[in-house]
Amino acid sequence: MDQQLGFLENEFDRAIAAHETHAATEKVVPLAAVRSQEILREHERRFRELLDALPAAVYTTDAAGRITYYNESAAALWGHRPTLGTSEWCGSWKLYWPDGTPMAHADCPMAIALHENRSVRGMEAACERPDGTRVPFIPYPTPLHDEAGRLVGAVNMLVDITERKRAEEQQHLLVRELHHRVKNTLATVQAIMGSTARTATSVEQFKDAMIGRIGSLAKTHLLLSNEGTTVTFDSILHSELDPFDDGSHRVRFEGPRVEVISRLAVSLGMAIHELTTNAAKYGALSVYGGKLDVRWTVVIEASRRMLKFVWTERGGPLVTPPKRQGFGTRLLDFVLPGQIQAHSRIEFQPEGVQVRCALPLPAEPAPAKSPAAAVKAP
Ligand SMILES: Nc1ncnc2c1ncn2[C@@H]1O[C@H](COP(=O)(O)OP(=O)(O)OP(=O)(O)O)[C@@H](O)[C@H]1O
Ligand SMILES: [Mg+2]
Repeated sequence: MDQQLGFLENEFDRAIAAHETHAATEKVVPLAAVRSQEILREHERRFRELLDALPAAVYTTDAAGRITYYNESAAALWGHRPTLGTSEWCGSWKLYWPDGTPMAHADCPMAIALHENRSVRGMEAACERPDGTRVPFIPYPTPLHDEAGRLVGAVNMLVDITERKRAEEQQHLLVRELHHRVKNTLATVQAIMGSTARTATSVEQFKDAMIGRIGSLAKTHLLLSNEGTTVTFDSILHSELDPFDDGSHRVRFEGPRVEVISRLAVSLGMAIHELTTNAAKYGALSVYGGKLDVRWTVVIEASRRMLKFVWTERGGPLVTPPKRQGFGTRLLDFVLPGQIQAHSRIEFQPEGVQVRCALPLPAEPAPAKSPAAAVKAP
């Protein structure tokens, strides 16, 4: 009989002994005993198959806590095969409490179940495999008794809760991210309000500028909530510039797919909004036939990934160097360099404004969702 089936063997021996005592009293022929043995062996084989097929980790111990049996799922959860008859309480290599502090095997839920002769519920632990990976689990240790009610061992089922823990961590992360964004957004709104108030020449102008800027922030946040913790650079451009696409291909985008994390997305969204508003107020988008071209690329510079984009307006009114500096210029010249290390150069060329901007991206690119490049119009 398989060494792993110690507890079944014990059960089996007890059943045979009981049967033989009964047979001796009844003076039954030995052939019947042999037949009973076969039936018991068949039952035991089926029982073993059943336990081995279970997706949950199951193991048993004797009354002293020595492991007498474990199924394949238990071996997979533990990441090794403990020695039957000598390993005690639990087959885990190392055990931990949910807060990560080490748990002595003698304090584990199975040991409590056997010491106190009661089922233990509502506990959580984590086992460390010999390869260093940890598996959080919920144990269900339950004492086993013989016909006379004496404690003969215990059975334990370990439910792997790795997925649940991962989902909980993800949720905590999202809540933290949300708090962070709300705090930053309020600070941004405060800054926008201060700057808009300084540059506006009338209450009406202040109102219009505020509505546009808050609306742009809301659009970037909507993009972030739709797309996750990152957005693509071209989706920021689309959300600001699509309303200016009159079907004449006046707005062209060209560049690779670039994932932008939320911190960068909010700042870039504001920058694109200011450039768009300026183009609509004074530049190429202010007249019929004016064209806007935005091209971008990602380059490695001094081992940093840099997003570089060029915003070129053509076909608008003749451009002359400006006499004033408003929110748009201040944002590009002073705010973004401090906020996201984005450096811009605005050239007021007579045929149209050209803005060159470069900013560092996080070291690791987020995994691409689709390989398509973003091109708005042919
Ligand atoms: N695309 C553009 N084409 C032509 N001139 C522009 C363009 N963008 C900006 N300018 C000129 O540069 C000036 C400064 O722009 P800036 O965005 O800093 O301020 P504003 O648009 O006047 O005010 P605010 O941005 O505070 O609403 C503008 O007043 C305008 O004269
Ligand atoms: Mg402006």
